[in-house]
Amino acid sequence: MSKQAARPEPSWQIHVEQVETALQRYVAPQDDCPPRLQEAMAYSLLAGGKRLRPVLALLACEACGGKAEAALPAACALEMVHTYSLIHDDLPAMDDDDLRRGRPTSHVVFGEAMAILAGDGLLTLAFEILARDICPGDTAAACCADLASAAGYCGMVGGQVADLEAGQQSVPNLETLERIHERKTGRLLRSALTMGGRIGGADAQLLDALDEYGRCVGLAFQIADDLLDVTGSEQQLGKAVGKDAGQGKLTYPSLLGIEDSRDRARELIERACQCLTVFEDERARPLKSLAQFVLERDH
Ligand code: IPE
Ligand code: IPE
Ligand code: MG
Ligand code: MG
Ligand code: MG
Repeated sequence: MSKQAARPEPSWQIHVEQVETALQRYVAPQDDCPPRLQEAMAYSLLAGGKRLRPVLALLACEACGGKAEAALPAACALEMVHTYSLIHDDLPAMDDDDLRRGRPTSHVVFGEAMAILAGDGLLTLAFEILARDICPGDTAAACCADLASAAGYCGMVGGQVADLEAGQQSVPNLETLERIHERKTGRLLRSALTMGGRIGGADAQLLDALDEYGRCVGLAFQIADDLLDVTGSEQQLGKAVGKDAGQGKLTYPSLLGIEDSRDRARELIERACQCLTVFEDERARPLKSLAQFVLERDH
């Protein structure tokens, strides 16, 4: 498994547990769902993972004065979209990975067709949950639009296409790289903040601050992911390492080197923390700690 016994619990562990319980409920067996499909959806969704996007949604909601429970459906929807993106990202047609979250990948266990369909099932369930379980209706609609645009063709899906195409580009540059990372990873993470903020009753000023915090943390998160592919271990990460170079991916360390990549991540996290000054100190503290975790993480 990816988790190491000695790793300390994060201060947001209680939020992780809330998310785990809600996720289990959402992917319980259903009369009309083929058992193998339910098994495949639950296999990837309940395999652990840091649960960073859902935790961000809950913390953003609380930072704005809302109750974490109100944002749980949005948190689960985010984790479903994220998990679908990982299942598809690991397919032979994309990054062709065999290990994820410390387990064999979905297509290795269930076959490619079922892995694609398990991803489809999670993606669509996410929007069912948002539309049905977020109150009031206009907040639900705004969250559906946030998540769809973050995950869609101009967001994560577009970023994944750009990621696949970047390897073939003759002149890689920082602007292209940053655009890819902002879309393939940043947009979804950013939408965790705006959805959580909306549900917590954020006004325009707080929403803007959360959005910019999310942009910086999202980009720094993918820089850290690129760095860990070079400096981390399979045991810590629960996924293969050293794959980006082998596949000719455009990454921060490949373009800037390790030290400059770390500096860029540090700058982004500093900026993210500055965005939080519009919040009362106590309320924004967990978001600050989480930003620090993104910079220092080893998994
Ligand atoms: C991995 O995401 C894929 C990226 C977008 C970098 P995470 O590092 O959040 O993976 P889990 O959810 O903890 O497994
Ligand atoms: C994944 O980026 C981004 C999405 C899944 C949208 P990577 O391909 O770098 O993620 P890992 O390293 O496989 O987790
Ligand atoms: Mg990829
Ligand atoms: Mg990958
Ligand atoms: Mg990676």
